[in-house]
Parts: sequence; structure tokens; C-alpha cells
Amino acid sequence: MLSNKRSATESAGKREVALLRCIGCGATPHATAPDFRCVSCGELLEFVLSGWALGPAKLKSLWLNRRTAAGITPSNRLDQSGVWRFREMLPHIPEEYAITMGEGNTPLFRLQRCGSATGVESLYAKHQGMNPTASFKDTGMTFAASSARQGGFHWVACASTGNTSASMAAYAARGGMRSLVLIPEGKISWGKLSQSLDYGALTCQLRTDFDGCMRILNELVREKPVYLLNSVNPYRIEGQKTAAIELMEQLGWEAPDHIIVPGGNLGNSSAIGKALIEMHERNVISRLPKLSIIQAEGANPFYRCVKEFGGAKLEPMTAETLATAIRIGNPASWKKALRALRATGGEVEQVSEVEIAEAKAEIGADGIGCEPASAVTLAGLKKLRAAGFVRPGEMVVLILTGHLLKDPDFTIKFHRGDLFTGTPHERQAVHAKPLQRAPVVLDADLGAVVGVLDAAERNS
Ligand code: F0G
Repeated sequence: MLSNKRSATESAGKREVALLRCIGCGATPHATAPDFRCVSCGELLEFVLSGWALGPAKLKSLWLNRRTAAGITPSNRLDQSGVWRFREMLPHIPEEYAITMGEGNTPLFRLQRCGSATGVESLYAKHQGMNPTASFKDTGMTFAASSARQGGFHWVACASTGNTSASMAAYAARGGMRSLVLIPEGKISWGKLSQSLDYGALTCQLRTDFDGCMRILNELVREKPVYLLNSVNPYRIEGQKTAAIELMEQLGWEAPDHIIVPGGNLGNSSAIGKALIEMHERNVISRLPKLSIIQAEGANPFYRCVKEFGGAKLEPMTAETLATAIRIGNPASWKKALRALRATGGEVEQVSEVEIAEAKAEIGADGIGCEPASAVTLAGLKKLRAAGFVRPGEMVVLILTGHLLKDPDFTIKFHRGDLFTGTPHERQAVHAKPLQRAPVVLDADLGAVVGVLDAAERNS
């Protein structure tokens, strides 16, 4: 049990109060259970920040000063991080426990070609794949792993589709803790698996899916003194909020019209939504962007929750998609995500396997690239445009959650044209042919290379 001692947020000498509260019954427990669920009603907990001592203008200049301060010294170690730099918006964790690798600080790219193709001239990508372990998970992990260290834990653990585990393994290693990874056997990419092996995690491949791994982990943390680092852990959500704060700073504190995120376990959409709402309530931004959530058709429990059941219930399903990061049938944070969707007026969409692969290649052709799960954002944008929900003059930001090199297998198979061979998507996949760039195998002969070059020029 971690104590819920109204953790204080330091701000220019004054202390803000953060409190853990159940999103279901509103209880404010004195301590958290190992699975981070409310002991009264079983719902998730969240941090509530009571208010900030500094006004918006002071906060913005404080955050900017930290970012632009020259040199790295022990005293500004936290300021180098794109997460800890915004610590006025987070519960307090004393600096001595902070495990940081300079996470956050991710670029915002204009997507020129994708923008023209979708008819959204003002299209941007916030690339969370540019974090230390190449996914957005690092922003939440720096904060939650630090809370584990503060709690004196020797072991941390997570169930994962690959990115959480890679991130957790790295931060645990940096913080001197052991890590236990539960992943579905054969259903995560080699890139992600290799990361947790190299970072020294005890890696268990369970013969089940992500949801099965999560079930076992929930049982394990009740038996063993192991700290759970999935996004049900409210510290994860707090750290992940900073992606939205940093984005607003990059846009000069002018909110875009739309932010589009992939939806898996729904921690990220919850975190970004929470940050937007908190910034809006405190006049850090003057209007709320619409936050839309996109799922793969084969892993669409949240889409169905909203479209079929009006948000009244979520029916777990057996998930299937090649975008393995979001192969999740029973998302833990669906109620938090639903709240974010409703508060911001966002939409939920689903996209097919071929639509995901096409969108991924299009983001790649813009010179940016991402992993398959991230590409649902562009695929979803196309649908939201077609439905008139996104209008041509509006500014749209896609949150790209993972790096292209996380899953090179998918990319190579796509370009070679065999990603969908023998699957039900084979017929639809012919539409993706113009996007495929298979490598050309030639003799080591100048004439052969020149011939290929000339042919490519003629066809361009
Ligand atoms: N994109 C990527 C690249 C992911 O790894 C994940 C989740 C998501 C999107 C969905 O985010 O779960 O917050 O809705 N990956 C988790 C993992 C589940 O274990 O790495 P979410």
C-alpha cells in the first residue's frame, strides 16, 4: 500500500495539494491498494490537483526559463526533462527519487504531404516515438518509476504489448530496481522484446493475450511486494499529461482544433484529456481542442462502447490486429477516456488493417515514420474528414506514439507486398500497392543501377 498523504506540488515557495480520488464513488483513500483500484467500488483512482499557486503567465515563463537554461547541473537536472519541467502540474515527488532520462522534449512536425492528401493543410505530428526508449510510455514511466523508488520497492512489474515493458525495464534499470515483464507470447514485435531483454528485465512470455497478462499481474501484485507500473497507476497518467502541455507550449499556447490519438488500454487518451481539461480550467489555454480516439477494427471495444452502447458499458472482446501495440480487448481506462471524449467534444473512430498500413506508409513518405499503432491517427483523420467532423481549414495534431523502428517486420512485409498474404485483408490490400517500395535486388553493376534510377525518374 502506498500512502495517500496529500502529496504536495511545490510552486514558488507555496505548496499545492494533490489528492487521490476514486473516479467511481469519489472516495479519497488513505492508502492505495496494490492494483490501484478503489477498495470500496473497484474503480480507478486519479489525482486531483486543488489549484496552482501561480497564474498562467507566470507558469508559462517559469517553464520556458527551465527549457532554455544553459548547461546541465545537478540543480537543474529535472529541468532538462520535458516531464519534470512541468512539475507544477504534477503531484510532488521529491527530487532525490526522480529517475529521468530527459524524456519528453519531442518534436512537432508539419506533415506536408499527408496534409495535402487529406485536405487538412495545417496537419502536424507530435512524435512521442522520439523519447528515450522510442515510445510515449517514457513520459509516464519516469514519473511512476520514481514513485516506486520513493515507495522503496525492489521490484516493479507490468503487463504489456511491448512499449510499456521496454520503458519500464529501462527506467527500473536506471533507478536500481528489478523489473518483471509479462507479455503475450508471439504477439509483440522483436524490437520491443529486445529492449526489455537488453535493459535487464525478467521477461515472461505468457501463452495468452495482453488482457490475460494483465489478469495475472493483478493477482501477482496482491501476493508479492511488486509495484504495478501499468497505466492504471495514476502516476503514469500524470506523467503522460505533459505531452499535451508541451504540445501547447510548442503551439504558443494556442490550442489546435483537433488532437487525434490511438486507443489501446486508453491511458494515453485519458492523460491527454486530463491535461487539456486542467489547462483550460486554469486559463493556461483559452479553448479546448477536440480529442478524438481511433481504434483498430479488430480491437475496437471502446468504439463499440460509444457507438453501440452510448458509453453505458464496455463489452470486452478478443482483440486481433497487426498493430500489436493496441491489440487490447478490455481497456482498463475506458471510463476516464470517455470523460475526456465528452468533455472535449471529440469523436471515436475505427480503421481497418489495410487503412492502418496505408497511413503508416504515408507518414513514412513524409519523412517521419511511426509504428503501426500510431498510424491509426492518420487513418482515423481521413474518416473524420470524410464525415465532415474535421473541416479543411482546421488545425489537427496527430499523436504519434511509437518510433518506426519499433516494428520493422511490419514495414518490410508491407513494402514487399506480403503483409496481408493469406489473410482476409488480401483483396483490400491491392489498393495499397502504389505505396509499396520493395527493395530492388541488382548485380553490382553501374548500368543496372542507372537503369533503375532512370525508370524511377520517368515514373515520378
Ligand atoms: N500506441 C502505442 C505505440 C502503444 O504502445 C500503445 C499502448 C498505444 C498506442 C495505446 O495507448 O494503451 O494508452 O491507449 N501500448 C501499451 C503497452 C498497452 O503495453 O506498451 P493506450
